[in-house]
Amino acid sequence: MGSTTFQLRSIRWIIPLMALVTFVLTCLRFYYQQAHGIKESLDSQMVSDEQRIQEEQEILKEHQFQESIQDIMNATLGFNKILAINMPSRTDKRDQLVLGSSITGFVIDFMDGVDPNDLNSKTYTYNWNYEHSATEFACLRAHLNAAQRIVQQGLRTALVLEDDVDWDISIKPQLQTFAHAVRSLQGTTQTLAESPYGDEWDLLWLGHCGASCKTELPFYMIPNDPTIPQPSHLPNYYHGPPENVRPDTTRLVCTQQDAACTPAYAMSYRGAQHILAALSVNPSGFADQLQTGDQIDIELGRMCKSGLLKCFAPYPSLFGTYRSAGLPSKGTDQSGHDSEAQMEPATSWGLVYSTMLNIKHVLQGEHVVHATWPDVEKPVINPEDIHFESGYMYTYRPEDYPGPALIPEEEPFDETVFSDETISTDEAYSISRPHATRGPHLTNEPVSQDPS
Ligand SMILES: *[C@@H]1O[C@H](CO)[C@@H](O)[C@H](O)[C@H]1NC(C)=O
Repeated sequence: MGSTTFQLRSIRWIIPLMALVTFVLTCLRFYYQQAHGIKESLDSQMVSDEQRIQEEQEILKEHQFQESIQDIMNATLGFNKILAINMPSRTDKRDQLVLGSSITGFVIDFMDGVDPNDLNSKTYTYNWNYEHSATEFACLRAHLNAAQRIVQQGLRTALVLEDDVDWDISIKPQLQTFAHAVRSLQGTTQTLAESPYGDEWDLLWLGHCGASCKTELPFYMIPNDPTIPQPSHLPNYYHGPPENVRPDTTRLVCTQQDAACTPAYAMSYRGAQHILAALSVNPSGFADQLQTGDQIDIELGRMCKSGLLKCFAPYPSLFGTYRSAGLPSKGTDQSGHDSEAQMEPATSWGLVYSTMLNIKHVLQGEHVVHATWPDVEKPVINPEDIHFESGYMYTYRPEDYPGPALIPEEEPFDETVFSDETISTDEAYSISRPHATRGPHLTNEPVSQDPS
């Protein structure tokens, strides 16, 4: 009896006990599932946070890039300064630049050009080639003065202009597109840069009469650029990218090999230091493989080619040249007139919507500008309607362009230059390379005239 009571009692205990255990297990399972679920959702939240942060950073970088490119719209075109070299006696050309830059919205600081008659003979570098004229040295000296100003004032960048320069009315958006290109070539569209043009350059050769490319490095192509003159209107260029690589309406930007003429180029602080070192101060051994003693454009070209300067150039050139109406001798700074010469109309070379040729239209309050030649898609256009497409990187493969084999340019190599021995000679030496750049660099007929 007693045992039955015990059994009954224990059965009475077992039922609630089992219920309790079941309840506890259920609860544990529930909490476990809950905790596990939270962990899982935490994990996935962390992944999406990372993604979001990354996306936000990309947006921020894109924003910073756009903001930095926006600086190109400012009064110095995104450079620290714009310096123009001009003989004080050529007040007409100073007027030209002041008026032109007022129309497109930038401000120029003038630097006096160098009169060959004022040159102290000691200024010449020890290895200057005296077969060149004093005027050519004076021109080189004026450009060195610009480099000196950049270094002395600690300018991060400056645009240097000669006073016969002209530019497209759309120069600001053109330069923004160019900045996209050079920053892509430098690989700095995603990193902060102090200059809107990136910080990995010494020279941007924006205005030239020919520029060639380092073909082993990528190019950047800007298709359907409405500001490229038809091929027949382009000036005769002395250097160019490989044949057929560029469709006629595409502007190419590349790491530059050589170039000719210096109507417009930008120097960085480091670039200006190197130029002064190589072309004036001549520290021994600075550039063993650089032959110096020639005109400024030839020297800058050599410095780009040798890699002493990191140079980028657009092709065709972004800047052109201009001569106002009058005797053809207006184009040079040398005095004297050819009494037989005929008056000539104002002429601009190399640009579709020349600023100089459109001064009249802008001042008369017309809302349109006129193309230099009528055979373009839009002979008359509102400057606000000039747009540029974004471009793309391009790798040159010579096998895609079969043609005559390229003959490499021979550069005479003067081993005495910058050797460690002190050389004291003022003797002229001859160089084997013909000076292409000082001839009439624009041999095409000046087809451009004020259209009205
Ligand atoms: C234009 O932008 C550049 C680059 O940010 C800057 O260095 C320069 O000072 C600006 N120029 C003016 C006039 O604000």
